[in-house]
Amino acid sequence: MSCYEITGGRPLSGSLAVHGAKNSVLPILAACLLVPGQCVLHNCPDLSDVSATIDILRLLGCRVDREGDTVTVDASLLSRSDIPDHLMREMRSSVIFLGALLARMGAAELSYPGGCELGPRPIDLHLSALRSLGAEILEEQGVLVCRSGGRPQNRELCLSIPSVGATENAMLAACGCPCQTTILGAAREPEIIDLAGFLRRLGAQIAGAGTSAITIQGGVPLHPAEYRIMGDRIAAATYLCAAAAATGEVELTGVDPDTLTAILACLGEAGCTLHTGPDRMVLASAAPLRGIRPVRTAPYPGFPTDAQAILMAALAGGEGSTLFVENIFDSRYRHVDELRRMGADIQIAGRAAMVTGVGKLHGASLRSTDLRGGAALVVAALAAEGTSQVSGLRHIRRGYQTLDRNLRALGADIRELP
Ligand code: EPZ
Repeated sequence: MSCYEITGGRPLSGSLAVHGAKNSVLPILAACLLVPGQCVLHNCPDLSDVSATIDILRLLGCRVDREGDTVTVDASLLSRSDIPDHLMREMRSSVIFLGALLARMGAAELSYPGGCELGPRPIDLHLSALRSLGAEILEEQGVLVCRSGGRPQNRELCLSIPSVGATENAMLAACGCPCQTTILGAAREPEIIDLAGFLRRLGAQIAGAGTSAITIQGGVPLHPAEYRIMGDRIAAATYLCAAAAATGEVELTGVDPDTLTAILACLGEAGCTLHTGPDRMVLASAAPLRGIRPVRTAPYPGFPTDAQAILMAALAGGEGSTLFVENIFDSRYRHVDELRRMGADIQIAGRAAMVTGVGKLHGASLRSTDLRGGAALVVAALAAEGTSQVSGLRHIRRGYQTLDRNLRALGADIRELP
């Protein structure tokens, strides 16, 4: 099993163009099912989750080609609406295909997406949202058999949690309902805005994306389009936290700084200097990071749960204490034991974790437990004294394109060992 070998203590410097957003390209790839024709997507990251999604599109009968960061999807010959279990298991966020298949095919069949490293990943909000749109959904031995149904009528559905995936599924299904759908309690993440931007490019009539009330006038004929995926704000946060912890000065391009204001505020409070422009940001860090006010994860525009482990890793090797509270997922502290192996002082009590900076972590042999937890270990290792090995790269490859090569280009001593 391959791993990264990282020797810490080297400041980072230079400029990096951040890849397209994983959590935007996945629903947008599913949205390509809505139109019989060829859509062209630019700035698509080369990630294993993207490859898994492309495998599903091809299995459903789409023609998908990739050239560099451009992916073309032709859903003209979409021929089936069932996703086999082994592909569902490969990536639980494939549940996003539900809404698009219902809209285009009037049917969808897929196995229940399993839980993951973050704990149970229920889809009750997805199913209740789709049922609100008239879908008939049977759950038989772990398989969801869905049919669109019900007389088209204007509908209003309300999400009790601003679930990103459930909002996306409802948006995609609503495009196929020849009526007006209003989604209340919608997620406000930038990736929702990006999905709405793509759907509007297809000809969909959508208003309110980015607010908690989204209105879709469905049944409008849609046509193929070309679109550029937004930059990945969590990948950007990862590189910023790496530079903050290892010190140095790094410029990132290709990401709108307005999509990660909560993280930038934390890094500024921890002692970093930040400058931002329309799609660039520069972070300079010259001293150990300070403890900051409590970091409570919350739906956007609050502090993103995906950046919790990454910021924690950066602060664990600094000075001062910071309280983290993980409010989104039940089991998102699995990276803590690994950070403790590096000398981190982190006390957990339920959803809270008190991080007391120990001045410097030391290298260790580490195992990635999940996507962002793995990235957090890389961040910690870059600032630690000595050498670390980080295994479980399959987790990291789900959401980071050439992480080691990008960090080496910024001056890090990191290489992949077979
Ligand atoms: C999306 O997951 C992201 N994934 C996650 O990123 C991210 O952490 C999460 O949103 C929160 O921002 C993609 O976009 C592919 P949710 P999603 O539905 O849609 C509960 C990463 O690291 N819930 O907003 O699955 C759920 O258990 C990944 O890139 C229900 O109870 O997240 C969680 O506690 C990890 N019932 C909360 O809502 C449901 O039907 C938020 O989940 C759905 C969700």
